[in-house]
Amino acid sequence: MQQLSVVILAAGKGKRMVSDLPKVLHSVGGKSLLTHVLATVSGLDPAVRVVVYGYGGDRVKIALAGERGVVWVEQAEQLGTGHAVAQALPLLDDAGVTLVLYGDVPLTRRETLQPLVDQARQGKLALLTVNLADPSGYGRIVRNEQGQVQRIVEEKDATPAECDRHEVNTGILAVATAKLRSWVAELGNDNAQGEYYLTDIVALAGRDGVAIEAFTTNEPAEVQGINDRRQLAELERFYQMRQAEALLDHGATLLDPVRVDVRGEVTTGKDVVIDVDVVFEGVVRLGDRVKVGPFCVLKDAVIGDDVEIFSHSRIEGAEVGAGAQIGPFARLRPGSQLAAGVHIGNFVETKKTTIGPGSKVNHLTYLGDAEIGAGVNVGAGTITCNYDGANKHKTVIDDGAFIGSNSSLVAPVRIGKGATIGAGSAVGRDVPDGSLCLTRAPRKDVSHWKRPVKPKS
Ligand code: UD1
Ligand code: CA
Repeated sequence: MQQLSVVILAAGKGKRMVSDLPKVLHSVGGKSLLTHVLATVSGLDPAVRVVVYGYGGDRVKIALAGERGVVWVEQAEQLGTGHAVAQALPLLDDAGVTLVLYGDVPLTRRETLQPLVDQARQGKLALLTVNLADPSGYGRIVRNEQGQVQRIVEEKDATPAECDRHEVNTGILAVATAKLRSWVAELGNDNAQGEYYLTDIVALAGRDGVAIEAFTTNEPAEVQGINDRRQLAELERFYQMRQAEALLDHGATLLDPVRVDVRGEVTTGKDVVIDVDVVFEGVVRLGDRVKVGPFCVLKDAVIGDDVEIFSHSRIEGAEVGAGAQIGPFARLRPGSQLAAGVHIGNFVETKKTTIGPGSKVNHLTYLGDAEIGAGVNVGAGTITCNYDGANKHKTVIDDGAFIGSNSSLVAPVRIGKGATIGAGSAVGRDVPDGSLCLTRAPRKDVSHWKRPVKPKS
C-alpha cells in the first residue's frame, strides 16, 4: 500500500486569540489543539507526520516534545497555505499520498479522514467540504452543471454569484504526493491576498484530468477551525457533549450531561452515577456503582467499586479502595492510597499516605507521609506534623490504634498496635502497642477566680 504522509499546517499566528500562547497550544478538553490532530492522525498509521510551524515554534516544539515521530518544518514567512505545504514537500516521498490537515482544526474524526486517504490511493484528489448556513470567510466550492468540482474560489476573489454558494472548503485534502509536488510548484500569488493558495491545485487537477472526489461532512464542528476564543469555547462545549454522550452510552448516569467535563480520559464501570458539575482530568477510572457527588474534581485517580464521593471533594493522584466513602469537602492529594471501606470525612487532607481497610478519618485532619493500618480511628483535628522546616518525616499508626481529637503527631513517630492517644496530645516519641498516651498538662482549678476589669477613667 502506498505510504501516507501527513502535513499539518500550523504556522499562522492566530492574532484573534489575543494571546501570548501560540494558537495550536490552546486546549480543548484539556489537550492542545495540535495534540488532538496528532492523535487522530496516528489512527491513520502514517509513515510521517510533518508539522509546519511559524509563530512561537519553539514553544510548540517544547510543548509537544513527548510526541514521537513528528518532523518539524519552519515556514518563516506566512505566504499562504500553498507556500506552507511547499515547505514540507522536500521531506515527503513521491511514491505515497499526502493528507493536508490544520493544527487549529482539532476535532476531525479518523473515520472522516480515512475515505480521503483511500481515494488518494486510487489516484484521485480527495477534498473535504461542508455546507454552512453562513459560509462567509471560507473558500467556496465551484461545481459544474454535472455537479463535478471544478475549482475553489476564495471569498475575497469570488463573484457575488460564487459567494452565494453554501458549500465551502474545509482545507482538508488528500492526493498523490508526486502530483501535489508538481501542482504546488506551479502556484502563483496573483490574487486578492497576494498569497500562494493551496486551493488552486483543484483547478490544476481538473486541467490534468485527475478525478476530484469531494466528501461532504454533515458535522460542521468536525471541520471547525479555531480563530478566536468564541470558537474555542464553542468547540469545547461540542467536545464535552461528545464525552458526555460516550459516558451515557457506556451506561453511566449523568444527572445533567451538560454539567460534566472530561479533560482527559474517564472509564466507568457498571451503574456509575455522576452528579452535576463534576470535572475529570488526566486518566480516571471509576469502578462499578461508584457515585460522584456534585462539584467534585477527580484527576488521575482510580476509584474502586461501590465508592461514594460526596460533594466538593478533590481527588488527585490517588487510589480509593472498594466501598470507601469520601467527603464532603475532602482533599486527597497525590500518593494517597486508601484500602477498602475507608471513610474520609469533611475537611480532611491526605498526601503520600496509605490507609488500611476500614480505618476512619472523619473530620478536620491532615495526614501527610503517613502509613496507617487497618481499623484505625483518627479523631477530629488530628495533624501529622510531617515537616520540620527542612525535611519530611513519616508517621506510622498501627492497626486498631485510636487517635484522640486535636492531637499532633510529630514525625518521625510510630503509634503502636491498639494504642490510644488521649485528646489534645502532642506526641513526639513512639507509643508502644496497647498503651495509652496522654500529654495534656495536669489541670489546675482556681476557685472564686476574679476576672480582670478595666480601670475606671
Ligand atoms: C483557508 C482556505 C479556504 C478554506 C479555509 C478553511 C486557502 C487559500 N484557503 O482559508 O478555502 O475555506 O482555509 O478554514 O487555503 N497557514 C500556514 N501558513 C500560511 C498560511 C496559513 O501554516 O502561510 C495555516 C494557518 O495556520 C491555518 C491554516 O493554514 O491553520 C489556514 O490558514 P488561513 O489563513 O486561516 O486560511 P483561510 O484564509 O481561512
Ligand atoms: Ca482561517
